[in-house]
Amino acid sequence: MTEDQFLPTETYSSQLEGSVTVQSPSNIALIKYWGKYGEQLPKNASISFTLSNCHTKTTLKYKPKIGEDSVFEVYLDETLAPNFKPKIEQFFARIERYIPLVKEYDFIIETTNSFPHSSGIASSASGMSALAMCLVELEQKLLSEPMSHEQGLQKASFLARLGSGSAARSIEGPLVVWGKHPKIKGSSNLVGTLYPYEVHPVFQDYQNTILLVETGEKQVSSTVGHNLMHDHPFSEQRFQQANGNLSKLTPILKEGDVEAFINIVESEALSLHAMMMTSNPYFILMKPNTLEIINRIWKYRRETGSHICFTLDAGANVHVLYLKNEKSEVLQFIQSELKIFCKEGKFIEDRTGKGAKTLK
Ligand code: PMV
Repeated sequence: MTEDQFLPTETYSSQLEGSVTVQSPSNIALIKYWGKYGEQLPKNASISFTLSNCHTKTTLKYKPKIGEDSVFEVYLDETLAPNFKPKIEQFFARIERYIPLVKEYDFIIETTNSFPHSSGIASSASGMSALAMCLVELEQKLLSEPMSHEQGLQKASFLARLGSGSAARSIEGPLVVWGKHPKIKGSSNLVGTLYPYEVHPVFQDYQNTILLVETGEKQVSSTVGHNLMHDHPFSEQRFQQANGNLSKLTPILKEGDVEAFINIVESEALSLHAMMMTSNPYFILMKPNTLEIINRIWKYRRETGSHICFTLDAGANVHVLYLKNEKSEVLQFIQSELKIFCKEGKFIEDRTGKGAKTLK
């Protein structure tokens, strides 16, 4: 697969006015992407569970541009959000050679998140994948020979990646790989692809409850974080470790070896944070309550034999992962022992999902 295959093959035959709405979820990495090169290309392969309830809904209203340059406005929860514009301008500039309609139309972008505003949940994966999918839906209407459904999804993932790397993994689900890996057939640095091998039923419909330890702006932006991997003393070992962990995961997913899964997933989360603690400048993104929660999860697992485990994003919130058939016990445990460590007692119940969907 090359970038060129995403270049337009024809000039648009028609001009349209209308709107398209897409709902796209967030995702949680099991093997983490941290470190990139070139134009949003990952230094190692990653794999994630696509989520379900944590999503962005975006309506793209379009009409042929009136002035010399195309213009757009962004609304978040029905309120004009000019602070979103620079990121989207940069996104449009990156993708215009692949989808020239961004230069030919004026847009109104209306977006809402299902998760609370400033909850500390990264909205870039769901937001960028929703917008990318809206643009592909529009392009499909303008082409005299539309792409196949699969090509459309691939293009949406390709574009989403150029907005936010991890967004490439939100178009489909429940398990998506992004980054070329010698043992994963069809994997690519350019797009997220559905995990192509057998997955044991225990890993289907996995549950994920997000414990909101800290809300508000991220302490370290992804851009800063990825850049810190450039001169990092352990970066090469980290990229190898991640790729090695992905190799190990294939038989684990097939055989339903939940204990081995837990070992890899928790180690990945701590390795991601270890990278941030050992970069320069250095950061501790966990909070005391993050550690309290992790220790309680370990204690509960030891004492009950539960298959609960955790993973972390680049922040203090904890993603609790567990099997569907342990749901009621785990939710009870969260209510009675973990909730007190969440900001205002807040947590979000989620589970794996199928990716972006067009609503109209
Ligand atoms: O997509 P970005 O550039 O915001 O990077 C996200 C990286 C992590 O969320 C920390 C890990 C991952 O693989 O999603």
